Amino acid sequence: MNQTVETILNHRSIRKFKDEPVTKEQIHTIIKAARQASTSSNVMAYTIIGITDTSLKEELYKVSGHLHVKNNAHLFIFCGDLNRINQLADDTVSIEDNLESTEQFIVATIDAALAAQNATIAAESMGLGICYIGSLRNDINRVNELLELPQHVLPLFGLVVGHPDHQPDIKPRLPLEAVYHENKYLPFQEQQKFIEAYDNEIEQYYQTRSSNTKIDTWTDQMIRKFSQPTRMDVSPFVKQKGLNKK
Ligand SMILES: Cc1cc2nc3c(=O)[nH]c(=O)nc-3n(C[C@H](O)[C@H](O)[C@H](O)COP(=O)(O)O)c2cc1C
Repeated sequence: MNQTVETILNHRSIRKFKDEPVTKEQIHTIIKAARQASTSSNVMAYTIIGITDTSLKEELYKVSGHLHVKNNAHLFIFCGDLNRINQLADDTVSIEDNLESTEQFIVATIDAALAAQNATIAAESMGLGICYIGSLRNDINRVNELLELPQHVLPLFGLVVGHPDHQPDIKPRLPLEAVYHENKYLPFQEQQKFIEAYDNEIEQYYQTRSSNTKIDTWTDQMIRKFSQPTRMDVSPFVKQKGLNKK
């Protein structure tokens, strides 16, 4: 196995960091890796905002409720961004219909996610730890206001980076057969045995991992999670920002 694949397979989210900075060079390398991700038609429909102001970090921590949003070496916020493209068009061309379509919303979210995952792999390859922060969408309007985002720019998630101060066990994933189907979609009934196997595996993992042990299965977790309406303000927010409207 080569080192890149080893780094990827060694991933675990890090939620506790040493009080040790990352260098400017490391931050730049992470951003360069993010920039080099594939991007739909070279649109580069994303912007990364680095948070260096500690009072702003504190406000973002309040939105997320997660201590690792405050205590880390660096916090990046990944935004889907179609503002740049909108600004390019002068009055002689009308791009609004296209810009505000679901298609372009998907382009922007995918571009941001691909850039973030490249950033993740770069950071992890340097021995740093990361955690994605979707909980910034607990109050997407507040994050929008704090970052002074213009129309057509969405705060999608954060990424915290730093020197790991713990080494959580690697979390098992759904078996390959459940997530990789050949030629056509595998009916759910045929996926079920793989899901059951995963439930057993993750139940064991939760009971025996080095911290935060609990009794739970993936199926139970997912049913609980999806039976709670979550962040229902995101949809009207996205539309207000002029995205995913058509
Ligand atoms: C888009 C996204 C948002 C996430 N948001 C959070 C978050 O707000 N807080 C957190 O502690 N972990 C967050 N995570 C981390 C996931 O919980 C984690 O990746 C998942 O449980 C698998 O665990 P692992 O990364 O340790 O393998 C997020 C992950 C992704 C991809």
